[in-house]
Amino acid sequence: MARETMTCTDNRTGKSVEYPILEATRGPDAVDIRTFYKDTGLFTYDPGFTSTASCKSKITFIDGGKGELRYRGIPIEELAGKQSYLEVCFLLLYSRLPTEEEARDFDLEIRHRSFVHEGLRNLIESFPSDAHPMAILSSGVSALSSFYYEHLQVESDAEYHEMASRIIAKIPTLAAFAYRHALGIPLIYPDIERSFTENFLYMMRAYPGGKMKITPEGEQKIRQVEIDALDTIFTLHADHEQNASTTIVRGVASTGAHPYVAISAGISALWGRAHGGANESVIAQLEMIGDVKNVPEYIARAKDKNDPFRLMGFGHRVYKNFDPRARILKKLQDQLKEELGLDSKLLRIAQEIERIALSDDYFVSRNLYPNIDFYSGVILYALKIPRSMFTPIFVIGRTVGWITQWIEFKEDPASKIARPRQLYTGA
Ligand code: SDX
Repeated sequence: MARETMTCTDNRTGKSVEYPILEATRGPDAVDIRTFYKDTGLFTYDPGFTSTASCKSKITFIDGGKGELRYRGIPIEELAGKQSYLEVCFLLLYSRLPTEEEARDFDLEIRHRSFVHEGLRNLIESFPSDAHPMAILSSGVSALSSFYYEHLQVESDAEYHEMASRIIAKIPTLAAFAYRHALGIPLIYPDIERSFTENFLYMMRAYPGGKMKITPEGEQKIRQVEIDALDTIFTLHADHEQNASTTIVRGVASTGAHPYVAISAGISALWGRAHGGANESVIAQLEMIGDVKNVPEYIARAKDKNDPFRLMGFGHRVYKNFDPRARILKKLQDQLKEELGLDSKLLRIAQEIERIALSDDYFVSRNLYPNIDFYSGVILYALKIPRSMFTPIFVIGRTVGWITQWIEFKEDPASKIARPRQLYTGA
């Protein structure tokens, strides 16, 4: 089919140049401007990359207008809570859901790889007890590159699989270690008889020696409803096309550094409250608002241009409709209200914010809807996950997305070192 083109004319000189339009299978097409500077002597200007496709990708598709999210073409509604998080990891890595046998083998492999070198334990214990778990996680993952230095040169599919499985398996252990170090209690090692998500809750909660709490009825079990809720949350966070932290991971991939330091850079980028750190800030904000009657005051502050206050958990660069992940979490919240004993006071404040914001012209005219972080916090709170661990939970879910995007970057012949230019306005 004849390639469509776009003509760009510099009206100062009347000179026109044609650029090919690259067709997408879904969503916006892209005009290929790779020779634009060579042809015109001009740069394009797009801070924040609001109109820029940094790569081609087959992994995740988002339609911001419709509020649609697909992993490898499958709508998130068909995956979250219906496939296990590890089956979704397999889907993202290998572009298809696993057979029953593949799912079992992958699950067992991840369990066996969930242990970390004792040196990492010493690293974690060298942190002050009030260190934020995200600082420990990004350092621990960066340190992992020293224990698996061979992954600097990944060639075969088997090596890609081993490198990806290792980091997916070890992040929950490092996250749980970081949490227990902060509490000053002994670390709990992975229990290979427990599933991925149950094992994380176990490593967070078990008493020294590995026993769960003993009650008059005997040893306390981790309830399936908690495991299922957290597994769904991991799936909803698994990937999200070229978000800020994924862009950083691809940027580090472009210089040829070790894959695990790229993931570490992604963790650091995710930490910011404008990105993954928002889930922690949402709860802090709900607690600060404190009562439903204070909501109008904070809504007014969020609208006030002279006030730096922003409504955490609202707005999104791509979604100009409800974040589909937020819809799923909202439903999950309603299901779990009784079973998990969601904090009704925080929930009421969140619902009042949503009620007012969704009818207020400031938010409606800017297409500001609740995003994933607005709802995840209340559920994590009910799972007795401490607020400092909310963003590490996001890291556990997103690691598979980062490493899949890293692999796609490495396998794309068009990949080049990330080196943007600037509009110089200095002396
Ligand atoms: C995540 O990219 C991803 O995919 C990220 C993520 C993923 O899965 O990887 O989805 C995860 O990071 C979700 C977003 C979590 N962050 C927050 O909830 C923090 C609060 N939200 C905002 O900081 C903001 O909405 C962003 C950062 C999410 C998006 O910023 P944009 O796209 O750069 O939008 P903008 O700052 O240009 O805002 C457009 C307008 C502005 O007003 P005007 O200048 O037009 O008058 O909307 C206003 C903003 O002031 N605005 C808000 C607001 N968010 C945007 N006003 C009040 N409260 C807010 N939350």
